Amino acid sequence: MNNYAKRIALVEDYLEKLALKKEIFEYYRGRSILVTGGAGAIGSNLMIALSMLVGKSGKVVVIDNLSAIKVKDPWNVTPLPNIMFVLGDVRSDIDMKRVFKENPSIIFHLAAFFANQNSIDYPETSADVDILGQIRLLEYARLAKVDRFVYASSGCAIYGSFAEMPLKEGFISMHLTTPYQINKMTGEMYCNFYHHHYELPIVNCRFFNSYGPGEAPGQYRNVIPNFIYWAMQGRSLPITGSGKETRDFTFVFDLVHGLVRAGYYQEAVGENFNLASGTETRIRDLASMVNDATGNRVPISFVERRKWDTKPRLLASIEKAVRLVDYEPLVEFWEGFRINIEWFKDNWDKIQTVADFTPGMSSAVRSADSICSVKGKAKVRTVASANVLHSPITSSTVTSGSNSITQ
Ligand SMILES: NC(=O)c1ccc[n+]([C@@H]2O[C@H](COP(=O)([O-])OP(=O)(O)OC[C@H]3O[C@@H](n4cnc5c(N)ncnc54)[C@H](O)[C@@H]3O)[C@@H](O)[C@H]2O)c1
Repeated sequence: MNNYAKRIALVEDYLEKLALKKEIFEYYRGRSILVTGGAGAIGSNLMIALSMLVGKSGKVVVIDNLSAIKVKDPWNVTPLPNIMFVLGDVRSDIDMKRVFKENPSIIFHLAAFFANQNSIDYPETSADVDILGQIRLLEYARLAKVDRFVYASSGCAIYGSFAEMPLKEGFISMHLTTPYQINKMTGEMYCNFYHHHYELPIVNCRFFNSYGPGEAPGQYRNVIPNFIYWAMQGRSLPITGSGKETRDFTFVFDLVHGLVRAGYYQEAVGENFNLASGTETRIRDLASMVNDATGNRVPISFVERRKWDTKPRLLASIEKAVRLVDYEPLVEFWEGFRINIEWFKDNWDKIQTVADFTPGMSSAVRSADSICSVKGKAKVRTVASANVLHSPITSSTVTSGSNSITQ
């Protein structure tokens, strides 16, 4: 069985275990669904589940600019006949017209400039993608009168550092420590605005630390893929802090499960809720598990805690998701971890190609470098950017899209 077939089989198996009710299958069957950021860690699994739900008569349109990996290779996009991949940017009018030509009736908005440290190094791009890109998409969504707009929000962006555990949806913090967190919270607020003002049926899903097949390691990626990557290379796992910190690691299929339900249940509309495992794992225990599973004998090391990382614990309450959309995480940590390790080993060659560990450029370095004085005059270096967000959007823009986009 090749790696794509294995991944499909895993998702199929998971969906079977879910035993979704008949009405959910009927609801999704034959639809056109748009997944932004679909080539990413979570979207690449969501697209497989949706492909199964919409069936032969439906389609899943995936748009992604592949900015999260080192090479422009849609390796994470499973080649299924009803999945259409568009290499494009949510900030681009041309690309938006292209995907809206497919008449999506449900949108899962997962594209983001991921994540905390990245947003510190590149704050403007973070806001450009996560705020302006989202507004662009929301505009298209309301003009297209979609049935549902599901937003990938983040638990770390809403609850700040001083909330009581388990984290409940009613608590909101203004003490956020990175541009990513600020932008993701702003994303929720824009969803709420479009719901209130235009009655766009939005749902804000607050994810907690995802892990599982589909997430390549990288400079700005999560701890689990990075630990596995380093351990497989026989390197010491660096713990930023004491190691007693905990995270609510959520297997990616469980997030997909929550998203599928968020796209269906009427009770979810206009709401926000956590999607998590509802359990805690200590980072130190995680490091030991990774070293054991990979046979890495190099001792763990401790490095200074990152200034923005002010959360000693993360544990979500999942009560609201259970109540509103009948959500239930199915995969226990040891099991998801085993699947994750196996996926890493199966895809090791590819992972080494796409893993992006180029050193992050701090904004201080960048500003000194990009605006330099030549003989007393300021020389401004052009920064490559996506399409400029200036053209007004009208209803006709949505239907008269251009076709000139790479796929
Ligand atoms: N992974 C987590 O633990 C976690 C936790 C909380 C919230 N989230 C949110 O869930 C969503 C998905 O997360 P993920 O882990 O799959 O991230 P990811 O980085 O793997 O996937 C996001 C995808 O968006 C794409 N992208 C970035 N900018 C884009 C643009 N301008 N236009 C089109 N595509 C663009 C990237 O290439 C990437 O493939 C994100 O919105 C993230 O903020 C993730």
